[in-house]
Parts: sequence; structure tokens; C-alpha cells
Amino acid sequence: MALPIPLVGRLRLPVVAAPMFLVSGPELVIAACRAGVIGAFPALNRRSTEGLGEWLETIAGALTPADAPYAVNLIVHRTNARLAADLEVVVAHRVPVVITSLGAAAEVVDAIHSYGGVVFHDVTTAAHARKAAGAGVDGLILVAAGAGGHAGALSPFALMAEVRRTFAGTILLAGAITSGSDVLAARAMGADLAYLGTRFVATTESLASDDYRDQVVAAGAADIVHTASVSTIPANFLRRSLELAGLDPAAVPGPVDLGHLTRPSRADAKAWRDIWSAGHGVAGIDDVLPVAELVDRLAQEYDDARRRLFAEG
Ligand SMILES: Cc1cc2nc3c(=O)[nH]c(=O)nc-3n(C[C@H](O)[C@H](O)[C@H](O)COP(=O)(O)O)c2cc1C
Repeated sequence: MALPIPLVGRLRLPVVAAPMFLVSGPELVIAACRAGVIGAFPALNRRSTEGLGEWLETIAGALTPADAPYAVNLIVHRTNARLAADLEVVVAHRVPVVITSLGAAAEVVDAIHSYGGVVFHDVTTAAHARKAAGAGVDGLILVAAGAGGHAGALSPFALMAEVRRTFAGTILLAGAITSGSDVLAARAMGADLAYLGTRFVATTESLASDDYRDQVVAAGAADIVHTASVSTIPANFLRRSLELAGLDPAAVPGPVDLGHLTRPSRADAKAWRDIWSAGHGVAGIDDVLPVAELVDRLAQEYDDARRRLFAEG
């Protein structure tokens, strides 16, 4: 259990502000890194590889060695026609941390290792974890049940127990982590880093609309619908946004096979843009605040929880 060398001593708190489609941009990434946690964004949040290069320049230009490193998320899948070109730009900019999703490919890992970059790969099952470990990734992101985006179906305890048995690298844990005491709990379970998505939707620097942020603040865990109907892969969405898109959440089927796609009924409603993703963590989110204040609060809660536990002996 350890952080990869390039990350040692670079973080104020063992936290990653996870990459989120249409939500994370340079402002959020820069604010997170300046606050001392890893900020990340999906490469596909820009419509072109040139656009990706521009964002990388903006981010690298704004950060100093005193800030935490930043990360880019690459979708490693045959449907991502931009992968080769985006990877080239990522290598040219020597992006410190690359988060791969869907596929873990040794060629991608080798390209990032060639300049000293770190690769984390997200998984929802132990079988995928074994495959990614075989591709040589530095760390595995265990996406447990209740996470925002393409959530897993397993308890974090079960996933952690299974993966730890065979993987000695860095472990990141994701799924409904919203407070500093949650971060400490993830560390206690054996994670090196906590991976927080939904909590960062409700920050002033996120690209989410005010309505989206308000829904995250207003929602409880029961307002999250887990379905494959919106994005083909099972994902968690805000019930209210499904309703506003003309879908009846009660009629939305549960997880189904990949490829079983039913389209939203409102012809122009688009997944992620109009139907908003969030995880069960909405239960612990009561406000929208600047990233710096959020990280201060997480750090305070983390320290308080640690002191409380030690005091209890
Ligand atoms: C709106 C939204 C969009 C997301 N988009 C992506 C994405 O493009 N790529 C990715 O790897 N993960 C994506 N995720 C998943 C997050 O990176 C992370 O795994 C997850 O949010 C962690 O769970 P939490 O939301 O409960 O904290 C997304 C999550 C949300 C909420």
C-alpha cells in the first residue's frame, strides 16, 4: 500500500477530485490542485484533440510545483476514435497522472510510463482489476456501489477485500465519499487515496448548471436512479432530471445488458447534458461552495475524525 513516487509529498489530503463528463474543466482542476488535491478532467470534455491541448496548456501554465499534480481521463475503447491522438498530446504535455477507463492497454500504460507519468485505472469488479494489473497500471480505482457516473454494484468492503488479495499497487476508493471522515474511513479500509466525484459537482468551479447543483444539494440517496437505459452502461442519475427529461423513473428498468439501449423519451434530451449523474453521496451534500473551502473543510473533518478515533483509543 503506497502512493507512486511522483505523488509522494505532493498532496495536502489523500483525495482526487474525480473526472466528470461535462462537469470538470480547467477552473475546477486548477482550484483542486492549488488546494492540494489531485484535480482531473475527461479528455472528451473538449470536442477536439487541439482543444484538449489548449486545456492542458492552461492548466500547466496556472500550476506551480507547490501545487498537487493534475490528471486527465482517457476512455480506452474502440469507440473512442480520438484515443491515439489524445494520447499523443497527453504524452507531449507529460501529464502527471492519467486515469484510464473501460480498457486497460499495456501500450497506453507504456506510453505514459515513458516520461514518468502515473496511470490509474478504474474498475468495478475484481476480474477487471486483474486485467488492469496485468497491463501494468500503477493504481486501481475501485468504483463501488452508489458512485456517481458508471457506478459499480459491489460493496466497497467486498471490492477492497478481493482486489487487495492480488494487487499490491496504489488503491483508490470511489463511491459516495463526501466528507473528511469518509476519506479517513477509506484510508482505514486500505485505500491510499479517496476518489470524490459527486461532492465536486456542487462547487462553484464545476461546469454544472445552477439547476444541476441545486438538485445535488436537494437530493437524498433515494433520489438516485441506477439504470442502463440512459447511457447503455449502468449509471446513477438524479431522479428529478429524469422526470424533467420526460422519463418516468419508476418505469426506467434496472441494470440491463450492455447494448440494450432505450432512448430518453424527450427527443432532444441528452444523457449527461440534460439527464444529470450523481451518486448516493448526495445524501451528505448540503451546499455549493468554492473548491478551496471544500478542501479546507475536508481537511478539518479528516483531522477531527483522526483525533476523535485516537482519543477513543
Ligand atoms: C456527472 C459525472 C460524470 C462522470 N464522468 C466520468 C467520466 O467521464 N470518466 C470517468 O472515468 N468517470 C466519470 N465519472 C465517475 C467519477 O470519475 C467517479 O468515479 C465517481 O463520481 C465517484 O463516485 P462519487 O460520485 O460517489 O464520488 C462521472 C461521475 C459523475 C457524477
